[in-house]
Amino acid sequence: MPRQFFVGGNFKMNGVRQSITDIVKNLNSAKLDSTTEVVISPPALYLTLTRELADPKIGVAAQNVFDKPNGAFTGEISVEQLKDTSINWAVIGHSERRVILKESDEFIARKVKAAVDGGVSVIFCIGETLEEREANKTIEVVTRQLNAAAKELSKEQWAKVVIAYEPVWAIGTGKVATTEQAQEVHAAIRKWLGETISAQAADDVRVIYGGSVSEKNCRELATQPDVDGFLVGGASLKPAFVDIINARI
Ligand code: G3H
Repeated sequence: MPRQFFVGGNFKMNGVRQSITDIVKNLNSAKLDSTTEVVISPPALYLTLTRELADPKIGVAAQNVFDKPNGAFTGEISVEQLKDTSINWAVIGHSERRVILKESDEFIARKVKAAVDGGVSVIFCIGETLEEREANKTIEVVTRQLNAAAKELSKEQWAKVVIAYEPVWAIGTGKVATTEQAQEVHAAIRKWLGETISAQAADDVRVIYGGSVSEKNCRELATQPDVDGFLVGGASLKPAFVDIINARI
């Protein structure tokens, strides 16, 4: 079975009730490629609003989740709370949390494990900084980030994970990776899946690209054999998000 194309929209800390309502209503009424899986990720306060408004075919993702089931963890949200509010996805390991909030590979891996154990699918973000790319450490860095998750997850649990390769230097900068740069890293991730997890994981796990994806560059990126979709930040807040979802039609 070919991998289903996947487009995520990460609103980050943007939007209020009205603008998020407008974005969701626009998606609901747009003609979206029915073969593409779409998941949107509003700020936590608007998860339930988004879930209530969005067409049931559109998935909704939290932008974070905690690794413990409950207790004295002020400000955190548990996997059970996501499930209880019909939020079936979580973005975990985004570079903004790795870099700004100092989340470690191990902590992120524990959160991925907690989410998957609890029945929440994960958009697992990995990627190198500009400094790491210039030092030719891209594959080393993404492999380290992947290995941390592999220590926690069973081989079968990778079926609940979408890997988002997001070079940090391309996020919010307008400087998108070239199709060759994206394909090279995606192919390396798929090779890692085959060697470290299983042949089935290499065939089945979606590897999506994030970093300055726009309606202008998405079509060419989508032609690459190992690019299974996108994680879109800024452009997911705009009507052009529909064009990115429809990148292959
Ligand atoms: O999660 C999304 C990525 O950080 C990409 O953000 O499309 O604004 O560059 P961007």
